[in-house]
Amino acid sequence: MGQSECADRAVLRVLSGEALSPPPAWMMRQAGRYLPEYREVRAQAGSFLDLCYSPDFATEVTLQPIRRFGFEAAILFSDILVVPHALGQDVRFVEGEGPRLDPLSGRVEFEALRRHDDPAIFARLAPVFETVRRLRRELPAQTTLLGFCGAPWTVASYMIGGRGTSDLAPARAFAQQDPGLLDALIDRLVKVQTAYLVRQLQAGADAVQIFESHAGSLPDGPDPLARFSFAPISRMIEGVRAQVPGARIIVFARGSGLDGHARVAEETGADAVGVDWAVDLGALRRRLPESAVTQGNLHPDTLIEGGPALDRAVDSILEATHGLPHIFNLGHGITPQTPVAHVEQMLARLRRPR
Ligand code: CP3
Repeated sequence: MGQSECADRAVLRVLSGEALSPPPAWMMRQAGRYLPEYREVRAQAGSFLDLCYSPDFATEVTLQPIRRFGFEAAILFSDILVVPHALGQDVRFVEGEGPRLDPLSGRVEFEALRRHDDPAIFARLAPVFETVRRLRRELPAQTTLLGFCGAPWTVASYMIGGRGTSDLAPARAFAQQDPGLLDALIDRLVKVQTAYLVRQLQAGADAVQIFESHAGSLPDGPDPLARFSFAPISRMIEGVRAQVPGARIIVFARGSGLDGHARVAEETGADAVGVDWAVDLGALRRRLPESAVTQGNLHPDTLIEGGPALDRAVDSILEATHGLPHIFNLGHGITPQTPVAHVEQMLARLRRPR
């Protein structure tokens, strides 16, 4: 891949600080159940993890939303929970219920996990890197390929709770009972996921996103956002850049509030701030320097609603980010009940001549 072809990738250009009009767009969970062609492959693939570990199927579903909508970025099809699985934890996806893990409740389960440098971890994740290599070959040259992983706190909260819980009570109680063990688990995840992102970048990902989906629910104590989220994330970013100089990294700290979002830019070393739907994008942009890069903010429920409300929401994001580097996206993942026609409406509004 020549430098000149890379230079045409709009999402990469914005990640380097350029303001584009209209902004390039992609959607979190853009490959998913709202697409009939995804449901068809999903039914053939077996379990959800089988789909994640099959380069054939995973490549196909990653490409589906690019073919249909021409998004400017493709995100690798996988899940943040392949990492606990590769560490040796039992992970299943129960139809209609979400992920289930055998909970890590103490030292015994922690000691049973693979060490960060165990080659078996990356042997299990090898199909993911193969998917990245195939995607870079098959994607249009102008499409940015994004890799990703979960942030250590978010992944740890699933490992401890064994499932998604609304208030993360199990993980927060664990932090109270054995803070040293939580630190050790986070440290293991920092090391493994740093290597995981490096390998995705080496396989052909143009940039990566770190999902801190649980930034809104943290253990008690002084500045938990810095301690449990931003410090581990900045260690990962430093570690990735030590091996891949100039690596482009987006951090999405969902539920961290206006202040938390601004601190992502100020404290983690991220190139771009993923913005959830609860944040006032205009207020965030006024707080950040003009050179800061933002991404996201459209409420997934507005995409379900469609009609004039959707047009107004698209326009208001464009107004708040006019002349500033921004990547158009949702403020959280698209949901299965979203009509495909509303995605088309969103893109037509975004791309209409102004
Ligand atoms: O964005 C993409 O299109 C890339 C693929 C992707 C998936 N999960 C596929 C998926 C990405 C980037 C993720 C990230 C992820 N996974 C997060 C962080 C983002 C967020 O949503 O907050 C989290 C918390 C998970 C864990 C996870 N995986 C949950 C809670 C669930 C169940 C919820 C649901 O929508 O069913 C999953 C399953 C999952 N991951 C699905 C998809 C397409 C749906 C499962 C299916 O198709 O059967």
